[in-house]
Order: sequence, then C-alpha cells, then structure tokens
Amino acid sequence: MEIKRIGVAGFGLMGGGIAQVAAQAGYQVNVLEASDVFIEKGYAALDANLAKSVHKGKMSQADADGLRNRVIGTTSVKDLSGCDVVIEAIIENLDIKRKLFAELDALCPPHTLFASNTSSLQIIEIATATKRADRFVGMHFFNPVPVMKLVEVISTIQSSPEAARIATELATAMGKTAIQAKDRAGFVVNLLLVPYLLDAIRAFESGLATREDIDTGMVLGCGHPMGPLTLLDMIGLDTIYSITGIMFDEFKDPKYAAPPLLKQMVKAGFYGRKSGKGFYDYR
Ligand SMILES: NC(=O)c1ccc[n+]([C@@H]2O[C@H](COP(=O)([O-])OP(=O)(O)OC[C@H]3O[C@@H](n4cnc5c(N)ncnc54)[C@H](O)[C@@H]3O)[C@@H](O)[C@H]2O)c1
Repeated sequence: MEIKRIGVAGFGLMGGGIAQVAAQAGYQVNVLEASDVFIEKGYAALDANLAKSVHKGKMSQADADGLRNRVIGTTSVKDLSGCDVVIEAIIENLDIKRKLFAELDALCPPHTLFASNTSSLQIIEIATATKRADRFVGMHFFNPVPVMKLVEVISTIQSSPEAARIATELATAMGKTAIQAKDRAGFVVNLLLVPYLLDAIRAFESGLATREDIDTGMVLGCGHPMGPLTLLDMIGLDTIYSITGIMFDEFKDPKYAAPPLLKQMVKAGFYGRKSGKGFYDYR
C-alpha cells in the first residue's frame, strides 16, 4: 500500500509531534482539532520547534518551510477522508475516541489504516467502534515525539498481520524504530517503567535517601539520562497516577499500586513541571 497522506487527530503535545515527524518524512498531513484555537496553538508549538531546529543548524529554513506547508490544520473530520493512515492522539477518553473513529470509519475508504496513540486504553475497545478492527492497531509514540526514537506497534486479537506491517513500515519511514507488543495495559515500556518509578517514590517516602541522591544514584549508577523523580515530574504525577490505576485494575498486582505519597501529591495539585511543583520546585 502506498502512503501519501496521513491524518493526525489532535494537534496537542503528541499529535503535534506526530504531525511534525510525518511531514518531515515527506507525507502530506491533515491535522484534526476540536476548535480553531487549538489549531493555532498547535501551529505555534510546531513553528517554535522548527525555529529551534533551524537555529541549531539541524534543518535548513527551506526544509522547515516545506515541512510547515505539508501540515494542514482542520476542524472538519471530512478533511481526513482522503488519508491512507489516520493516527489518533486526542484526549484520553474512550467515548470521545470511539465517536471519532466511528465517524472516520464512515468517511475513509476501506484501505485506510487506523491507529491510536493511547497510553492506557485497550486498543480493541477503541477498534470495535469501527467495522475495520482488522485494520486497526496501536501506534504508541513517546514524548517528545521528534526526539524519542521508539514506537510501540500494538496488535489486538483482531488486527491483521498486514496492519501491523504497514504501521511498522510507516514508523520506520518516520525515522523511528518499532517494536511489536500485544494489547495489554502498559504495552512493553510502561509495564517495566511504571513499577520502577513507583519503587523510587516508595524509596523516597520511606526515607531511604534524599530525592537528589535517589536521582543521582540512577543517573551515575545506571547511566540513565535522568533520575526517576525528575522523570516523574516531567511525565506529570497526575498522568502516572491515572496509569497506575489502570495497570492495577488490569493486573491486581501491588507493584502497580500508587504509593500514598503519589496520591497525596496529586490531590494537592503537585503534578510536576506542568504545575510548577512536584518532587522538585520549578517556580
Ligand atoms: N503526553 C504523553 O507523554 C503521551 C505519550 C504517549 C501517548 N499519549 C497519548 O496521546 C494522546 C494525546 O495526549 P497529549 O498528551 O498529546 O494530550 P493533549 O491534551 O496535549 O492533546 C490532545 C488534543 O486533542 C484535542 N481534541 C480533543 N478532542 C478532540 C476531538 N474530538 N477531535 C480532535 N481533537 C480533539 C484537544 O483539543 C487537544 O489539543 C492520549 O491518548 C495520550 O494517552 C500521551
């Protein structure tokens, strides 16, 4: 299947990044948003990213302009009807995602592949909103999308091998490395990462070491680019809290249970970088 045009639903943090790497790979990209205000916000973030790349000498101004011209924002689902692949990165809400895919299913030709970037919902429960569950997979990108090299390609019990192959080839064309995973909470990366992050909170909560020493331990002792408490602040404690809830529901394993301190920090509004305070103070 030849892919020329890619639809991206959502021009937020992830959708903006996915649109950028798709356009950088030469595809025409139609980005769907809920309102014009969010389209403007999406373009502003894209422009800032491109300006930074040009400033650092990573991209020529001509390439940045070409990329920008290939990204077309819209608030009409109909404008995604000519896309060969649609990657969805809208708000993490099952009903809203299902409604969008049901609309897309009615508009897009049979060959169009659908993918969701959801972090925590099961792909199959989104796919069943369409009549093409065989052409529906997860494509789980990582934040920030232009920088992080991984895409997890998630196959459900209904995804065809061809759908996974197309998604894998597309991820490769977008400069990413794809790994294959089944449709289970956490896929590969969060399944392994989340217990580690929760253990770091437990270590801090129990008074094992200071936050700085826990982070320095993992940076210098294991060669990680940042320590677990710094990473938690970057991801957002509210996001991790909601992911642990979903993983605990699925596996009923205490290693996925939120430590009391995490719950208290979320209730207090200490979400990390985005709120100005988490394990560290950013104000
Ligand atoms: N943030 C992360 O680190 C991360 C990583 C991997 C996957 N994800 C997943 O990516 C998805 C998006 O997350 P995000 O962090 O980019 O969120 P975000 O809030 O930055 O962006 C979501 C965007 O979707 C738009 N939107 C909402 N409803 C819409 C609709 N019906 N049609 C079109 N647009 C709509 C919103 O206006 C918003 O701009 C979620 O499913 C999330 O689980 C997030």
